[in-house]
Amino acid sequence: MCGIVGYVGTENAAPILLRALRRLEYRGYDSAGAATLYGGVVFIKKDTGRVEEINARLKLESMPGAIGIAHTRWATHGAPTTINAHPHTDCTGSIAIVHNGVIENYLALKKELLDLDHALASRTDSEVIAHLIEEYLKKGVELKEAFRKTLLRLEGSYAVALVSSQSPDTILAARREAPLIIGVGKGFNMIASDITALLDMTGEMVFLHDGDMAILTPDSYRVYRIDTGEAVERPVKTVDLTIEMAEKHGYPHFMLKEIFEQPETLRNSLRLQIEYVDLLAELLDKGRVIYLVGAGTSYNACIAGSYLFSQIARLSTFPVIASEFIPNYGASIGVDTVILAVSQSGETADVLSALEYARMRACTILGITNTVGSTLTRVARAYVLQNSGPEIGVAATKTFTSQVLVLAKIALRLARLRGKIAQYEIDEFNSWMEKVPSIVHDVLERVEEPIKKLAERIAESRVVFMLGRGVSYSTALEGRLKLMELSYIPCITYPAGESKHGPISVIENGVPVVFIAPPDEYRKLNIGSIMEMKARGAYTIVLGDSSDQDLKQLADHYIEMPKIHPLLSPIPYTIPLQLLAYYTAVVKGYDPDKPRNLAKSITVP
Ligand code: G6P
Repeated sequence: MCGIVGYVGTENAAPILLRALRRLEYRGYDSAGAATLYGGVVFIKKDTGRVEEINARLKLESMPGAIGIAHTRWATHGAPTTINAHPHTDCTGSIAIVHNGVIENYLALKKELLDLDHALASRTDSEVIAHLIEEYLKKGVELKEAFRKTLLRLEGSYAVALVSSQSPDTILAARREAPLIIGVGKGFNMIASDITALLDMTGEMVFLHDGDMAILTPDSYRVYRIDTGEAVERPVKTVDLTIEMAEKHGYPHFMLKEIFEQPETLRNSLRLQIEYVDLLAELLDKGRVIYLVGAGTSYNACIAGSYLFSQIARLSTFPVIASEFIPNYGASIGVDTVILAVSQSGETADVLSALEYARMRACTILGITNTVGSTLTRVARAYVLQNSGPEIGVAATKTFTSQVLVLAKIALRLARLRGKIAQYEIDEFNSWMEKVPSIVHDVLERVEEPIKKLAERIAESRVVFMLGRGVSYSTALEGRLKLMELSYIPCITYPAGESKHGPISVIENGVPVVFIAPPDEYRKLNIGSIMEMKARGAYTIVLGDSSDQDLKQLADHYIEMPKIHPLLSPIPYTIPLQLLAYYTAVVKGYDPDKPRNLAKSITVP
């Protein structure tokens, strides 16, 4: 996730762009930059670090010109370096672009451009856009059409804006599966990734649709469809929000905003560079023993991953809590051990010490992380980025669901590589993966209200049980972690089959027991466990398929879920549990964004 902004008008563009960049920093903050146009020349300043640091070093605000674009970056392709920071230019330096999104076919486009003798400076996917436009311009195509033809060649997602010395009072912009909004002003127009970047300049906004491109001048804006080039009308809407409300997209907390962002973040996580996924799959396949190592939420994703690897790829792996890795397995690892570390930040000390220990013993280290340039990306032989964008709420939400989806994708590539499951099963699983973002969208629409009511009941509880079998054990663990860390209610989780071996003795009248029961092969056993708990007075809350009448009748409280492949169920089934934790904290008067005693990233052992 990155943030982009553009201004064309009569005032100095740079101070306006700088203000907008500060507001967009929540979308990414590893590097930033701006391009302005003045006297037929494109001026560019960019660097790594936070916007404020870069401005102190480079004086972004003193850049000349009444037109410009700017970008704040959350690296997805290419490390966070000055060269990889946006804006990017063509070979002549007369076109500058900023881009948010992922160009999936950039390797092919880059090759084509290199064959045509283009000099590409960065390792980003974005830079190809400027060079493709340059190529069309060379052939005599005019700028708007060169831009459109370029967009038609891009696979993936983008919100893109460009300035060119050929057209000194015009910004061109376009979007596909990434947000982009026009701010309409008196004597100026702006474009930005979100309304927060525009609000101090104007409340009049045009929300572009997917597949729209726009041309902005100081006193006009026109919108066209990218596929046909035809002009379309988009209404101007008045946005009446304070900047503070807008930063959270109107949500009262970042956590809720991030929960609702999941259809988008999951879509981004599906767009992985398949080359890297394959490399990870190949290296995993070579291991004699494979450990999945993580802490907190990332460990819960590792548990889901071990079920996925086993059932989809027929590969046994051991999920391990990072701080226990050395004591438990340190003595037995060696050159034929593979460790796949999962860490949102890529900086968790317990994970890094396990990796350092393993590195000294010649193990192969692999990673899944949300943070390019993190220590994990430097110590890993190969890594995959989960593309969730920055997460501000301390409790991980969108990063968990993305991690599970990335693990599922790796499992599927491994299955293909190992030839262990039938082609039709691979195809079926793949099509379920593609449907996950829309299923999650559906869950968010249907469960919020019922969960709000349930939260009132849970907020009164002294203890809560959260149980599941098979891969749903990982869902239960993640639901329990969220509820415990936000509402401070002690919460007990174990694989449901363990009840009779001890924990059931805690059950007394009214104790809430949440069962994660997607329609899988454990359905009958789940029914048995639910009856067992009910018989001892538990208040049973069951998450199950909307068509399962038996479960619905049995449960004291039933949460209806849409159909999903059982092995992917941790993704949608975690959503109601995230909301339950959030609303229980709210009912109890706690701040879900800042749970006590916790930090987003724990960089001490
Ligand atoms: C902290 C955070 C958790 C997170 C864990 C692991 O405890 O509060 O939300 O899951 O660290 O973080 P990582 O960045 O390695 O995923």
